[in-house]
Amino acid sequence: MGDWIDVCDADDIEHEDVMRWDHDGRTFAIYRAPDGAVYATDGLCTHEQVHLADGMVMDHEIECPKHNGLFDYRSGAPLRAPVCEALATYPARIEGGRIQVMPDQAG
Ligand code: FES
Repeated sequence: MGDWIDVCDADDIEHEDVMRWDHDGRTFAIYRAPDGAVYATDGLCTHEQVHLADGMVMDHEIECPKHNGLFDYRSGAPLRAPVCEALATYPARIEGGRIQVMPDQAG
């Protein structure tokens, strides 16, 4: 089991939005779903290493800003070409009003 790492205040990310988070030389994307739940994935698209935080969140999907590839950010599953490789996902939670992620626990 890894450690929970503090990311930011829960209010720093709107519902149905995404934020880039750099930690320990790695980059992640932190999402809030329409219901406020939080999720975390690798921050770079598996197609061409573009920052997904520059993309658009719709419901439980993130659309890559470069070629419009689509992932389900809850599972990391690729949903639309040209992406075919899944994103790694990480445990995320809200604790005491703060978003926390376990970056060493790739799913
Ligand atoms: S870089 Fe993301 S779909 Fe091409």
